[in-house]
Amino acid sequence: MFKPTVNKVMDNKLQQAIDQLPEILKRDLDENLCVCNQIPKIKVIEAIVNGADALEKVRQQTFASDGNGCCKLQIKHLLNALVDKH
Ligand code: FES
Repeated sequence: MFKPTVNKVMDNKLQQAIDQLPEILKRDLDENLCVCNQIPKIKVIEAIVNGADALEKVRQQTFASDGNGCCKLQIKHLLNALVDKH
């Protein structure tokens, strides 16, 4: 029987997360969301999928927003779209 690898499971979770984003947030996934630290948007989404459910946790995992913080709002948009608020 086929057993998905950890990476395959992660790919599926990542794809599901991307699918649930509003169209405007799906753009430029490979482009740097955090220009200061050269962190692509997809890496931020990956961190959120891996449990970084707050800005500070995203910063700790990826270093995004660890410059002058100019990308914080974009990260918050992704958190708002992806984190279950129950
Ligand atoms: S773009 Fe992320 S801290 Fe400046």
